[in-house]
Amino acid sequence: MDIKVLDALLKPRSIAVIGASATPGKIGYTVVKNLIDSGYEGKVYPINPKSEEILGFKTYPSVLDVPGEVDMAVFTVPAKFVLDGIEECGKKGAKGLVIITSGFGEVGKTDLEQKMVEVAQQYGMGILGPNIVGVLSNSMKMNASFAPTLPLPGTGALVSQSGALLIAIDMATFTRRVGFDKLVSIGNMSDVEFADLVEWFDQDEDTASISLYIEGLKDGRRFIDMAQKTHKPIIALKSGVSAHGAAAAASHTGSLAGAAKIYGTAFEQAGVIQASTLDNLFDRSLALSLQPPMVGENLLIITNGGGVGVLATDAAERYGIPLKFAPEDVQQELKKYMPEFGSAKNPADLTGIAGADWYEESVRNSYMHPWVNGLTVLYCEVAITEPMDVAQSIKRAIDDSGITDKPITVSFVGGEKTETAMQWLVENGIPAYGDPDAAVNAMAALHEYANLKAKRAPLALAPNGDSKEKAMAIINKVRQDGRDVLTEIEAKKVFEAYHMPVPKCELAATAEEAVSMASAIGYPIVMKIVSPQILHKSDAGGVKVGIENNEECKAAFETIMANAKAYNANANLHGVVIQEMAPWGTEVILGSVNDPTFGPSIMFGLGGIFVEVMKDVTFRVAPINQSQALDMINEIKSAPILKGTRGESPKDIEALSATIANYARMIVDLKDEIDESDANPVIVYDEGDGVSVVDARIILHK
Ligand code: COA
Repeated sequence: MDIKVLDALLKPRSIAVIGASATPGKIGYTVVKNLIDSGYEGKVYPINPKSEEILGFKTYPSVLDVPGEVDMAVFTVPAKFVLDGIEECGKKGAKGLVIITSGFGEVGKTDLEQKMVEVAQQYGMGILGPNIVGVLSNSMKMNASFAPTLPLPGTGALVSQSGALLIAIDMATFTRRVGFDKLVSIGNMSDVEFADLVEWFDQDEDTASISLYIEGLKDGRRFIDMAQKTHKPIIALKSGVSAHGAAAAASHTGSLAGAAKIYGTAFEQAGVIQASTLDNLFDRSLALSLQPPMVGENLLIITNGGGVGVLATDAAERYGIPLKFAPEDVQQELKKYMPEFGSAKNPADLTGIAGADWYEESVRNSYMHPWVNGLTVLYCEVAITEPMDVAQSIKRAIDDSGITDKPITVSFVGGEKTETAMQWLVENGIPAYGDPDAAVNAMAALHEYANLKAKRAPLALAPNGDSKEKAMAIINKVRQDGRDVLTEIEAKKVFEAYHMPVPKCELAATAEEAVSMASAIGYPIVMKIVSPQILHKSDAGGVKVGIENNEECKAAFETIMANAKAYNANANLHGVVIQEMAPWGTEVILGSVNDPTFGPSIMFGLGGIFVEVMKDVTFRVAPINQSQALDMINEIKSAPILKGTRGESPKDIEALSATIANYARMIVDLKDEIDESDANPVIVYDEGDGVSVVDARIILHK
């Protein structure tokens, strides 16, 4: 998206309101009034064919009559007038269009919405919306919306796909003490989408962090790419994570995928921090907009109350930053600022008699110690120490330390005075919360940010030999046959082209061929029917394992062919695959889906009951490198089985991770062909002995 378009939408020098009204209560009136009340310093041009003047501004019948330049136009006319208005804005040379009007894609009028975008693009304009509340910016003193006021000032930007929620968040910024510089309502995203705004905010000097309320992304991969490049923390609250798409997906992988899992995983890959609730979005946004990431694992908690200390300790474990005892020198220092009966371990309990001076010294000294990677300070209101004194001493200690690359969060529990003290802390750049759990969760967000930032890897592929040509030769032949499902042997050949080990296998059309192939491969062997119409081979009596010699092979061939005919008389029988019998090992499953939002995505899990019953699987948007594949292996609950447990030898995780990465590459390379696929099971052998894809399935796009 042209940067000039986004500049015009977020920092316009002049605004026309198309459909401005002199009638209080109408949205066209509210927008003009809001621009005045917020102190917008650019030019405002109300457009209305019937009025002479609105709220003291001269009014023009059309945007074409405006004497000066128009950067941005806010639309508050009914849907049927919008298209003509856009055309006029184009002629006028406007750049950004804020379409508040509803009645487009959200009520099925996608054609009209599309037409609007086409006309705007012809003139090099961009559209925010339609169906939105508008844009609000404290730094621009601009409330170009029908939300009541600008939000409490802050350093973050927030984009919401829900208009009503944006207004609610706007109002809640005051009660929650979480300020934002900008609020943007994104609505139907006919043109400007999340990725465009993320890109613009990344460059904006007034934006420190980016908060998103997302219902759905239009182009998930573009969002991931953009988020990965961003230098500022992005935090997202995603709604609508129920089983969308899952029910419709025919395959095993599809039904395990579901929107929530792919979204969660895609956000992680993009380095996007997730919020679980609206409260959590506020809490985490505050910390991310004010504090640096927490690099390292060592969180120190300082408290004057044992109860809140224990609550915070529990929270630290819950949110992935479990406490460790502070090293001896840290403890010795802390002991200077507590009575005999205090505790210098972690949490450091200064006890209820701690004064502001003890807080100041203990915070300063521990903050400066290299062991401490993040500090959470807790305070319970007590009669002997004023909350504001504690707040100010914490701030002084942090400033005196000269350290700016470590985060601090604070929780004060008490009455009105603690509220005032916490407000003061937030105004002075220290995130403060009424609940120790929230303060630790906010620290966890800063910790997640540091870790996700380090792990981000672009979704790009290095060039890779002739795998694709080999695979396409097989796929083209399948297409020529008029099929969209590959036989097992064809699928395995495609997997093999991408360097995934498959057992030796050949297709026998006659019993004689079967015997000679089996002899060449070497007994024991497995024999399976090959027919595009028979997907569930075992159900059809089409599988025989442990065939030991020529007689058994011949007999098995006849039986399998007869069973298959009996199972489906119309099936086209290609023959029987003769396959080397893979030795026993640990079964894992790989699968792929083409997610509607993120495209080719890969699933990994342990086979058998682990996948069927426990649903112990993990996902990534493909491609991934081998180290990300290792992360997948490590994050399933049953990972210890692969690593070797209870006397079991460790499995070949190196070979497995290489196979997962190769598989991810295959589904990206062939994304225009493959709809779904799986390798189920893949047998993993002991360390050094490799893996074997013993069954494979590929379904092409129709
Ligand atoms: N150019 C400029 N002004 C025009 C115009 C044109 N071509 N055609 C009409 N107008 C004027 C009208 O005369 C009216 O002014 P007036 O009060 O002086 O008569 C003004 O524009 C607004 O038109 P009106 O017909 O009164 O519409 P409205 O105010 O009842 O509704 C919307 C307009 C946009 C608010 C309404 O269509 C809508 O979409 N509402 C939902 C918006 C929303 O909730 N969005 C966010 C969802 S989260």
